[in-house]
Amino acid sequence: MRLIAIDGPAGSGKSTLARALAQHLGLKYLDTGAMYRSVAFAVLRSGGDPEDAEATAAVARAIDLDVGLDYVMVDGVDATVEIRGPQVSQAVSVVAANPEVRAELVSRQREWANRQGGGVLEGRDIGTVVFPNAELKVYLTADPAERARRRAKEATGLDYEAVAADIARRDAVDTTRTADPLTEASDAVVVDTTGLTIDEVVVAIGALLDNACEGEA
Ligand code: DC
Repeated sequence: MRLIAIDGPAGSGKSTLARALAQHLGLKYLDTGAMYRSVAFAVLRSGGDPEDAEATAAVARAIDLDVGLDYVMVDGVDATVEIRGPQVSQAVSVVAANPEVRAELVSRQREWANRQGGGVLEGRDIGTVVFPNAELKVYLTADPAERARRRAKEATGLDYEAVAADIARRDAVDTTRTADPLTEASDAVVVDTTGLTIDEVVVAIGALLDNACEGEA
């Protein structure tokens, strides 16, 4: 089973790299951040409080999730756009810090990969927790100002200052939480993407994989 783990903070280039690698290798791609966002979406939609750990964990266990390449369905509702909106972005860090939510989603991520016979997964804890034996672990970083610029460009209607503040807040929660904080695996390839185009990153990691395959042959 071929497993590729792509981790790193918001705006570091994970999604673009993970999608490109999945296509290059003929593997399926899973955005695990979309799963945490979907739980936050379901809690808010039902009028619940994301800070209520028990109720939020119950939502995570019951949720019907379909995370595709270009869509996200939550309990039969199309949540593709809303999971990227400000309300969900605001609520998701507390949801992702909930250990019971993490246990449920990690188990679903492992099942997904087993069903597909491998895959490229992007998130925060793929190389450290979900698949510590992944064939390749990439940890992407970038300067916070650069990450905020990228996100502000992607999201229409959000100004740079608001995006930068949201990214700084989520970085702080994601790296300091007790349950599986964002950190690089000791055997991850660490790439600082500041000043690099995403194409340059894709080419560099693709070459690394191809060289590793040739080495094995
Ligand atoms: O990658 P993203 O911005 O869509 O992630 C949304 C939130 O979920 C973010 O606060 C980090 C968290 N997350 C996580 O804790 N573990 C993962 N494997 C993926 C995302």
